[in-house]
Amino acid sequence: MSAVLQPLEAHLEALTIERLDAVCAVEQRAYSHPWTRANFIDSMAAGYHCQLLMGGDTLIGYFVAMKGVDEVHLLNFTVAPEFQRQGWAPMLLQALGGWSRAQGAQWLWLEVRESNGRAQAVYLRHGFRSVGLRKGYYPAAGSQRENAVVMSLHLNESASAWGALQ
Ligand SMILES: CC(C)(COP(=O)(O)OP(=O)(O)OC[C@H]1O[C@@H](n2cnc3c(N)ncnc32)[C@H](O)[C@@H]1OP(=O)(O)O)[C@@H](O)C(=O)NCCC(=O)NCCS
Repeated sequence: MSAVLQPLEAHLEALTIERLDAVCAVEQRAYSHPWTRANFIDSMAAGYHCQLLMGGDTLIGYFVAMKGVDEVHLLNFTVAPEFQRQGWAPMLLQALGGWSRAQGAQWLWLEVRESNGRAQAVYLRHGFRSVGLRKGYYPAAGSQRENAVVMSLHLNESASAWGALQ
């Protein structure tokens, strides 16, 4: 079932312990191999940039990003199933791009499952390029593994594709 919220009703906030139940509930519904609660707690403890997109008290989506020297690595990027296909992913990507630029990063990097064509299409639309493959990077059904497509985006080249939210 989908749910609709207007962009003006949405705001970004940092992930806190109080929001973890909601995040884990969405994570469970969004992925075949979801992150655990411990993965999110570790990310907060490590100081990663963990941002939630909220519509009032309702969780729309979130991302977790790790800052490197001149790059940012996107570790988790999720829109809750009931809010997918409504244009929230671009809003999260703009927030990510703005924060990354403010950190002085030149590049954004991410891995995405080879079978996840939908996410790859969203990233390609926002200027990411596929730059490699990591063999057997992800767990898959049974004891199988799935390749990751490595994607990157040069932040200076992508200013126009990322709109004004920077
Ligand atoms: C990948 C993901 C983040 C994309 O989020 P999203 O919010 O659905 O992305 P968008 O809003 O840009 O929408 C994508 C699709 O909806 C369409 N769309 C966007 N806004 C729309 C609107 N207002 N009305 C109707 N359709 C719309 C887009 O054209 C696009 O269509 P397509 O997939 O047929 O090409 C989301 O599907 C997700 O969380 N998936 C599960 C977790 C995951 O795979 N994360 C990525 C891990 S690397």
